[in-house]
Amino acid sequence: MSDNGYLLEMNDITVEFPGVKALDKVKFNAKRGEVHVLLGENGAGKSTIMKVLAGVNTNYTGTIIWKGEEIVAKSIAEQRERGVSIIFQEMNLLKNLTVAENIYLGRQPMKGRNIDWNKMNQDARALLDSIHSNIDEKALVSTLTVGQMQMVEISKALSFNCDILIMDEPTSALTEKEVDALFDIIAGLKAKGVAIVYISHRLAEIMAIGDRITIFRDGKYISTDYVKDLTMDEMVAKMVGRDLTDYYPKVDVKPGEKMLEVNHISEGSVLKDVSFYARGGEITGFYGLMGAGRTELMRAVYGADRYDSGEVIVKGKKMNIRTPEQGKKAGIALLTEDRKNQGLILGFDLTWNVSLTNLDRFMGPFGLDLAKEQKICKELADSMRTKTPSMKQLARNLSGGNQQKVVIAKWLNSNADIIIFDEPTRGIDVGAKAEIYGIMNDLKKEGKAVIMVSSELAECMGVSDRIYVMHEGVMSGLIEGEDMKGLTEEIVVGYATGARESNIKA
Ligand SMILES: Nc1ncnc2c1ncn2[C@@H]1O[C@H](COP(=O)(O)OP(=O)(O)OP(=O)(O)O)[C@@H](O)[C@H]1O
Ligand SMILES: [Mg+2]
Repeated sequence: MSDNGYLLEMNDITVEFPGVKALDKVKFNAKRGEVHVLLGENGAGKSTIMKVLAGVNTNYTGTIIWKGEEIVAKSIAEQRERGVSIIFQEMNLLKNLTVAENIYLGRQPMKGRNIDWNKMNQDARALLDSIHSNIDEKALVSTLTVGQMQMVEISKALSFNCDILIMDEPTSALTEKEVDALFDIIAGLKAKGVAIVYISHRLAEIMAIGDRITIFRDGKYISTDYVKDLTMDEMVAKMVGRDLTDYYPKVDVKPGEKMLEVNHISEGSVLKDVSFYARGGEITGFYGLMGAGRTELMRAVYGADRYDSGEVIVKGKKMNIRTPEQGKKAGIALLTEDRKNQGLILGFDLTWNVSLTNLDRFMGPFGLDLAKEQKICKELADSMRTKTPSMKQLARNLSGGNQQKVVIAKWLNSNADIIIFDEPTRGIDVGAKAEIYGIMNDLKKEGKAVIMVSSELAECMGVSDRIYVMHEGVMSGLIEGEDMKGLTEEIVVGYATGARESNIKA
């Protein structure tokens, strides 16, 4: 190791993609036994620099000093061999393989010329146990929740012995319990002298576990500080280059009619006799821990998942919605939480992604009106401040948060009256979050029924007009009217964990 105590020093790193300077002479360093946070808005270049270090982006210029010696990061295999392990922001698991197969892909333990399945499963089990995860090592990845997939990615990264572990938004889909488990793992790694790079948009998390923090803005280096020397507001100001104080702007709208009524929906053990309604001119929030059944409920209402019994009433009319096409026709839009698998076609350009679900909007007398399509899609993407060189860019090439913005733009193109946002701000920076809340408020002003599923308590409480809370497939609490005033986190979490008795009448 070099004299200055750094395990890693990256200097003057520049990366260009066609039409984008993703990084412009930035620097970053890391020390053993330290959590170094990397913060910046969507598209600031965080994932890009870490992909340089991991040997994925090899088109960089600049210098990397690793354990005191200058190196060139040429390939993933070589960087892994040197001790660099990365948990990518976008999940890379193969859905049709098991958890254990995914963890040991390409390096399965062998017995003679065959894969030693027993050993592989046992090793995977031990690894999962070590992070207190009860995920079945033999389960197909396709059966897991997004949060569980993230835990598998984490175990996989841990299975490589490493000097530096890069976590690119590891907690974006984790439950609070899983986050706690992850923080324990991080503490253990720190004690062993591993350097951790931690990328997250969750400021409270950064305050809790970060030692130092480096901030990028628009591909440029801004600063490196000790976390304890900065307030959250200072972090935000450095990150967005302006003060941002009102995170949750509320607009007052008189609630309208019931747009959506859902009565007694049940589905296996996932949903147990769940009822709720959403009115126009209102944001109806759904809080719950991961696995509470909120996503399943919304998918059932939209027709994406089946349900055993119950009824869905749209604008007073009982509907039989059993497919997403029927849901869409009934005037419902569902913005899914899993943008990579359900929201976007990564190999298509942005115009296509925005227009695809609603091509009929762009039909002219002579077929598809391409000029109109391009114009409207661009306006929608711009309204979300999507950072991209052009609408011709492939969705795959956008930063994680900007992909999320495109998913939202796509649904804004739908003219639905009932719009369900499932974790709309996951992985999105504070500036863009404020824009999304602004859009939800606009929809509310237009008299639409906005439904927001959120695992972020502050957001759910800050944005919603009424809040339903779910716990293990049951509606466990409803907060509305006067109760919204003076609402505390304890009350909401109490309902979500089952610690507080439900106030829902049977
Ligand atoms: N393979 C690629 N081809 C073209 N452009 C790319 C590619 N990868 C990244 N970019 C662009 O580089 C810029 C930086 O992206 P990056 O993914 O590093 O952002 P980020 O800071 O990780 O953002 P987020 O918080 O949204 O994940 C963005 O404008 C992005 O669109
Ligand atoms: Mg990123």
